[in-house]
This record gives sequence, C-alpha cells and structure tokens, in this order.
Amino acid sequence: MVTTPIYYVNDKPHIGHVYTSTVADIYARYKRLQNMDVFFLTGTDEHGLKVEQSAEKRQIPPQALADENSLVFQEVMKANEISFDDFIRTTDERHTTQVQAFVEKLLKSGDVYLGKFEGWYDEGQEEYYTETKAKECNYESPISGKPMVRMEEENYYFKLSKYESKVKELLATSDSFLTPKERKNELLQRVNDGLNDVPISRTNFTWGIPMPGDEQHVIYVWIDALMNYITAIGMAKDGEAKQKYWPASMHVMAKEISWFHAVIWPAVLMALDLPLPMRVHAHGFWIREGRKMSKSLGNFVDLTVLNKFSTHYGLDGFRYYLATEGPIGAQDANFASSRVQEVYGTDLVNTFGNSTSRTTAMCVKYFDGVLPEKSDDTSKIFKGYDWKSICEKEAAEAVRAYENLELNKATQAAMRIITKVDLFITETEPFRMAKDPNEQENLGAVLYQCLEALRISACILEPILPNKIKEMHAGLPLYANVSDSMGKRLVWGGLKPGTTVSKLALFPRLDPLDENGEIMKEEAQAPATSNKPAKKSKTKVEKVYSPETQAKIDAQGALIRSMKESGKTNDDAEVAEAVKILKELKA
Ligand code: MSP
Repeated sequence: MVTTPIYYVNDKPHIGHVYTSTVADIYARYKRLQNMDVFFLTGTDEHGLKVEQSAEKRQIPPQALADENSLVFQEVMKANEISFDDFIRTTDERHTTQVQAFVEKLLKSGDVYLGKFEGWYDEGQEEYYTETKAKECNYESPISGKPMVRMEEENYYFKLSKYESKVKELLATSDSFLTPKERKNELLQRVNDGLNDVPISRTNFTWGIPMPGDEQHVIYVWIDALMNYITAIGMAKDGEAKQKYWPASMHVMAKEISWFHAVIWPAVLMALDLPLPMRVHAHGFWIREGRKMSKSLGNFVDLTVLNKFSTHYGLDGFRYYLATEGPIGAQDANFASSRVQEVYGTDLVNTFGNSTSRTTAMCVKYFDGVLPEKSDDTSKIFKGYDWKSICEKEAAEAVRAYENLELNKATQAAMRIITKVDLFITETEPFRMAKDPNEQENLGAVLYQCLEALRISACILEPILPNKIKEMHAGLPLYANVSDSMGKRLVWGGLKPGTTVSKLALFPRLDPLDENGEIMKEEAQAPATSNKPAKKSKTKVEKVYSPETQAKIDAQGALIRSMKESGKTNDDAEVAEAVKILKELKA
C-alpha cells in the first residue's frame, strides 16, 4: 500500500498537493513495474471547524461544500494521471462507521478516556500546544501568526504518554521508519521532551464524526483523518480482502505533518494492536522566490499556473521537472520557470530526445528500420565500452534510488547511459562507417548497442515518463510483454535483431514560460542552458546541413555538453578545441 495524505477540502489544490501525489504515483508505478500488487490510496479530509465555517459563509451545508471541493481534488488527480486505486473521503459512510468502531475499541481498552484539559489552542490548525511549545512560539500560531487562545475543555483523551517509550524506541532505532533522517532527528528531540495525552474530541463544532456513546463530542479531525489509511481497506470489518495491503509500505507527505504520521499514528496503531507502516517519508516544501507559499502572501503555484506548465511541457515533461528538482529530501525547493525550461531542454530534448531520434533515424536510414545483429566482438569496435556492464551498473543504481525515493538519482542513472551513447557515436562515427561497405557489420553492431542502451534508459525512466515511454515503445519495442517486470526489462539484450524500428521524435523544442506560465516574449528569453542575460532578438535563419554534417554537429554538441556536465568550462583547452571543431562544422 502506498498513500498520499488526504487533502483538506477547505484548501485549493496547488503544487504541493500535486507534487506529493506525483511522488507517490512514481513510487506506485515503480512498484507495479516490479510486479508488486500495489494499492495506491489518496482522498480528501472533509471534517472540522474550518469546513463548517466556510460552508456557513457560503450558506450551504458543509456536506455540499465538501462534495464540491472533493470533486476538484479528484479531477486534479485524474488530470495529472495519478494512478490511485481508491479515493477515500472522510464523509464516506465506510469511513465514518469504521472510525467509530476503532474509537470504541480504544475506549474499551482504556487508551481513550474522558478528562479535563486546559491549554493553548491554534484555531487555524485545530491543534493544541504544550505550554513550552506555545511559549517558544510567542503564543502565536507558527503557521498563521494569529494569537493562540486559552481553552478549557472536557475532552476525550488518547493515552499517548503510555506509548512514549515505544515511539521513542521506534524513532531512535529505525533508520527506515521515518525518512529523510533530518525529520527523525527533529521528532526525536520533541519526543524526548515528553509525550502528553492528546485530546481527541471537540465540542466547539459539530461537523465531524460523533464520538460513540457521547454525541456532544465529535472526533478530532486528525484522528478521523489518520484512520483513512485503515478504513479504506476495511480493517475494522470482517473478511475484507483488501486487509492484505496493511501495513502500508509507504506514506508520502510533506514535513509539516510528520508529527502526526510518525508519532501519533504509530501510537494509535499500537493501541489498536495493528502493525505499523513500514515507512513514512516526509519531504520538504515547494517555496517561491525563497518564501513559503501561503494564503496571506498569495504566492501559491496554483492550478491555473500548474495546468499551463503541464500543457506546455506535456504531463511527462512537467513530471520530470517535479521529480528531478522537487523537495524530495530535507531541503525545500524553489519553483522556478527557468529551471523547468533548463531541465526539459537539457535532459529531455538535448539528451534523451536527441539521442533517441538520431539512433532510430540511423536505423531507418542505414537498415531500412530493421534492427541489426548485435555482434559480440567488443574488442574491435567498442573501444572500451562494455555496454552490458555499463547498463547493468546504472540499472542497479536506478533501482536502489527508486527504492529510497531518490527520484533524481534514478533519472541521473538513465542520463549517464544516454550521454555515453552520444559519446560512443562521436567516437565510432557510424555516419562514416555507413559509407564503407566493409563496415556494415560493425555499423549494425554499433547501432544495436546504442538502441539497446537507450531501451534500458527508457525502462529506467518509465515510472516518471509513463506516456512518453509508451510512445517510444511504439517505435522501438522496449519489452516483449507488458507483464514483464522491471527486473526483466532492465536485463541487457532485450532488443531482438530483426525487430522493426521507426524514427522517434519524443520531445519538441519549446519556448520558455514565465513564472505565471505564459509564453515568454522572444526578447525576454535566455538561451536554454545558459545564465547569460537575454540578447536582443534577431531574425534567425536556420541553416540546413547534409545528414552526415548534421550528425557530426549533433555528436560534437553532445561531446561539449558532456564535457561541461563533468565540470569543464570554455576555458579548458579540450572544450575550446571541441567548440572550434563545432564552429568549423557549422561554417
Ligand atoms: N488533511 C491533512 C492530511 C491528513 S493525512 C491523514 C493535510 N492536508 S493538506 O491539504 O493540508 O495537505 C497537506 C499536504 O499537502 C502535505 O503533507 C504535502 O503533502 C502537501 N503540501 C502542502 N503544501 C506543500 C508545499 N508547499 N510543498 C510541498 N508539499 C506541501 O495536511
């Protein structure tokens, strides 16, 4: 089971929601490609004071507001092709009845009891703070900045204190339960301050699940919400087949809710006598121009902007940006349209797209689109490139990276293979071989290595670029059967000589967008991969070269790019020489 948090229906969807869902989606797709039986859950969190107040303002029932806004989230998930298996709503009857059953169980075991509480309450977050924490925050909400209010309530409490040592032990001894490790250290510090029992019912509003046996109280939204992970698979019912998906293998979310997922949630599960999730991953935040995105600043990358980016760069193109530049670890990440353009241009157009189009075009041109024999004579023509072991090493690294949710590292493994393919073409000069009748066999072998290496790169990228890889599969068969596992797909030699190959053009060159997702005027555009200030636009006359010269220009370009990627600059003699050759070719 893989999950996203269930999203508040009182909020408008933005990049944070889409990002978390995309990360979980990539992981779910990766696991499905490993032939795992995945149950991917997402949904909406619909109870609480804020929803009640928003509905009141609009003079509609809270359920109507929840229906409307839940639908928006469902549409966003579908539009972004998030491959969820179930969408749970906390107002679903299947959820509310099971939450009551679980709370009843906790009442019976004494893990939930009725008691009096006085403390500092953050109305916006619907959260109580301890005296120490409230003082630290100057008695103001760390999220909204609004003053906390002193509240006294008779409440039902969850005996969190009873689980203090077990939760501490869980966090302290496991490196994999909560990741990244920075989160673990933060929470451990907080847990070391001591765990107090937490109120899990409210009487100041009614829009919630009634407390079993005491309808004056509604169940606290966080307890209600956390239980979605087990109600969706019928853990409180008898004989539900989906119970096999518990414990979840991965809860994905952002850092602000790690306390609830890695402290409260395991303690509740311990009290319910249920196994704990295997991993909670709490990534960083998307920020904008170095500042937190918030309602008050009005600086969210909202749906309108997001849709412009994914329409322009394609869903896969934009997913690639999210996967490679997103705040997957402890650090926050700045959303920048210039980076979307750079990443798309460098990795997808100039590397993956260009290499695929060159090699498939050569196969069409020199072999009428029929994949040549592979040849095993590595000593003669491969000049030290042991393609099988290069690809096996990178494929293993990609699998390791996906397992650890290091999405960027998985893409880098694929990009390293592709950059090597480009270098290999530069060195072996297939366009020269094509002119020599004695070199036909070598030419075929060179092309086979390139296409097979590209096939493996594509299989690595599939969880991130599902649509593009499907498109690629139509021109260059990437696997024999859809049911072949990723493990099988990543084995060297999957391409069968004699297969029909057609020319592929996967990623078109695109104009950059500004921060609001509008196409930039030509004079405001900077060259795709440079930081230099934009030049005044000139009318550009595209030169047309012979296929051989164009191939040499492409190869030389790839060589220069790979030199720069390995840290060299224009001041290096080697780069200067390569640039000189490129200029001569273009002259
Ligand atoms: N309803 C609770 C979750 C209950 S789960 C049992 C909630 N919902 S939320 O709508 O506020 O969504 C929070 C989630 O949205 C975060 O955990 C994160 O996944 C995502 N993000 C919200 N803002 C974000 C950023 N600025 N950046 C990245 N993701 C963030 O909390």
